[in-house]
Amino acid sequence: MDIAAIRAHSADDMKRVDQIIQSRLRSNVALIGQLGHYIIGGGGKRLRPLVTVLMARAAGHNPEDERHALLGATVELIHTATLLHDDVVDDSAVRRGQDTANEIWGNEASVLVGDFLYTRAFEMMVELNDMTTMEVFSRTTNQIAEGEVMQLMHVHDPAVTQARYEEVIYRKTAVLFEAGCRLAARLAAPHDPHLESAARDYGRHLGIAFQLADDALDYDGNAETIGKNIGDDLAEGKPTLPLIHCLAHTDNNTRQIIEKAIETGGRTAIEPVTAAIAQTGSIAYTRGLAEQEAEHAEAALAAFPDSDFRTALSKLARFSVGREY
Ligand code: IPE
Ligand code: IPE
Ligand code: MG
Ligand code: MG
Repeated sequence: MDIAAIRAHSADDMKRVDQIIQSRLRSNVALIGQLGHYIIGGGGKRLRPLVTVLMARAAGHNPEDERHALLGATVELIHTATLLHDDVVDDSAVRRGQDTANEIWGNEASVLVGDFLYTRAFEMMVELNDMTTMEVFSRTTNQIAEGEVMQLMHVHDPAVTQARYEEVIYRKTAVLFEAGCRLAARLAAPHDPHLESAARDYGRHLGIAFQLADDALDYDGNAETIGKNIGDDLAEGKPTLPLIHCLAHTDNNTRQIIEKAIETGGRTAIEPVTAAIAQTGSIAYTRGLAEQEAEHAEAALAAFPDSDFRTALSKLARFSVGREY
């Protein structure tokens, strides 16, 4: 089963997720609808709601009860809000194969519509009518903000360690997968803490693998396939794992070049830095760690009964590492 087959298998659930998202974008304020539909309509993999509905089904959720789709849509709106904010902070020009919202409407509109999506997501989760769900999402969005602020503090700092980097990616990316998975299992099996904990483990490892792969793709991906500009992280002076590993394994001369590139940012040093990263095997190292995380994610699925949904989740763990987009 590739990702297209997994999507096809979950077509009904994902169609419902999309309907919910579309209906919840509605606002009397024209710019909100316009910008909101633009970013949502730009596509995106919808990986987080896909994982969420699959997890609910793997845990035995009855699809007639549409709360799993509402949960998936909520997760996707939170994700979309973070993307609007992230592209402002990262000064990114391309996302989902089109100009970013900040490129078209400016930073102010992106930040404010991001706030709208965030708060709309909170209105939706209230409808799930479960205090634990509220607690988990409140904590999760708080941690995402912490991760983005921590990362901001790391920009232009070549001394950032792998441990610090790992803290950032756990917060900024993995916690949302973790929350979606955990709450999906809880929806299906509210009195099974063992299953909820396994779902949480799966989501966390998947999310970490996903961000490690993203940070590798920022150096060796194809801009058209991935729908974002390559080299954004270095241009921004963001010390991600490929750079951190390379700094620890290269010669003094190259180290100085890379340190300077992180300190100043910009695109002038992209070629020598990319060559150094290849030479030290730093992309392979990053992907190797992502593989390990994907294996941990798959291992956590042992707590679930065998089903097509569980198989799909297992494939998605592989996809998150092997993906080209
Ligand atoms: C981008 O996430 C942000 C990261 C955590 C790397 P996705 O790659 O899932 O973005 P879309 O939703 O498919 O555009
Ligand atoms: C995105 O991290 C994390 C969040 C949106 C919270 P990145 O900055 O690496 O994501 P891209 O590469 O812009 O998609
Ligand atoms: Mg970014
Ligand atoms: Mg990135």
